[in-house]
Amino acid sequence: MEPYRIKVVEPIPVTTRAQRERALRRVHYNLFGLRADEVTIDLLTDSGTGALSAAQWAAGMAGDESYAGARSFYRFQDAVRELTSYPCVLPVHQGRAAERILFSALLAPGRITLSNTHFDTTRANVELAGCQAVDLPCPQAGDLDSDEPFKGDIDLHRLDEALRGPDASRIALVVMTLTNNGVAGQPVSMDNLTRAAALCRKHSVPLFLDAARFAENAWLVTQRETAFRGQSPRQVAEQAFRLADGCLMSAKKDGIVHIGGFLGLRDRALAERCELLLIATEGFPTYGGLAGRDLDMVAQGLTEVTDPSYLRSRADAAHHLARLTRDAGVGIVEPPGLHALYLNAGRLLPHIAAHRFPGHALACQLYLEGGIRSVELGSLYLGREDENGAPVTTAPYELVRLALPRRTYGLSHLNHVGEVLAATVKAKERIPGYRVIEQPPLLRHFRCKLEPVPS
Ligand SMILES: Cc1ncc(COP(=O)(O)O)c(C=O)c1O
Repeated sequence: MEPYRIKVVEPIPVTTRAQRERALRRVHYNLFGLRADEVTIDLLTDSGTGALSAAQWAAGMAGDESYAGARSFYRFQDAVRELTSYPCVLPVHQGRAAERILFSALLAPGRITLSNTHFDTTRANVELAGCQAVDLPCPQAGDLDSDEPFKGDIDLHRLDEALRGPDASRIALVVMTLTNNGVAGQPVSMDNLTRAAALCRKHSVPLFLDAARFAENAWLVTQRETAFRGQSPRQVAEQAFRLADGCLMSAKKDGIVHIGGFLGLRDRALAERCELLLIATEGFPTYGGLAGRDLDMVAQGLTEVTDPSYLRSRADAAHHLARLTRDAGVGIVEPPGLHALYLNAGRLLPHIAAHRFPGHALACQLYLEGGIRSVELGSLYLGREDENGAPVTTAPYELVRLALPRRTYGLSHLNHVGEVLAATVKAKERIPGYRVIEQPPLLRHFRCKLEPVPS
């Protein structure tokens, strides 16, 4: 059961099928275009969508809104330092601001960054700095069905080769994403992280953690990695941070806040360069684009997020939904993690070709059937077609992500998702594919317009 009870409630919109059909037509079959009050269960993202605790609201009331030197900053700094051991702590409004600031200070055009998988904003910020982002996921990541416990690992062999290879002098840093959001939220083992850190040290290349889901990664380590069985998630998380030279943090995930983030650094000279950019683009270093109350809420969230009973209930919810999904006949990327389930739409809808977007088709159907909003991670997100709509590139897998906001939905909401999945599968042959009728030149999935193509 959830280790909390409800103190404040927010009604969720219950809509009719006819209303949902009209809404979907109006937004040209792009779920990002829906108004939130047209969505019954919103599983679009786990970022900034969680519920605050009473203690976080109380901490917010104690927020100090002084421009410089606010008490809130010092509480925030202490909480981050205690967790991470990094002496330099720079608050930012969200994770991608930390990415932009670090990469602007550390990278020069032509350099290379390596990662188990760069998250898409991380990649975008590396490329905006004129550099190349290279992903080195481990080979097990390619098998969606296997029960391998740590498919989020970096490929140590390729990392070693890259650090010794002809382009070694161009490698500026290594980023380990915990958990690996680009690989279906799969975790990274402490063994892999320790070995990656040793390689980085040997070659004098700084190692950073993209720590957005550090607590969920730590929980999965305590469950799946024998050497860490008896340890608490907090102990594991502390060890993970200590292996790296710094971190990029979106507190909208494992800070359990609606907005916030930070950059943690060991290198004081680098921190000074970052601080200049922080002042110019985010705010004075003791608030960094956040309100004092936000800083206090992050400080409190960081102490709550490693609570084993919270993490266990989050894992249980993901397992519950995974069972319902498999029972409905929908395959998922195995084994389920904590922040999301990834449905294998390509396998469920073989009658829809990749360039007719089976993942998007399934996401639209879940909305029509039961008001559930999810997100496609397949050829609409990663692929490209020519001007006649013929495929140029398609994604390796056609997935749909059901993200699980923190402390927001209970088991009966998940049961509703299970029922909707079961109803969707019953009529799966009738689900149409889609074609793009209008798209922007960049990040098309957010804003493109589509129409159904009956099969
Ligand atoms: C792994 C990872 N890194 C970085 C980010 C960027 O964080 P933000 O959305 O706070 O800018 C995200 C956001 O989803 C993420 O999942």
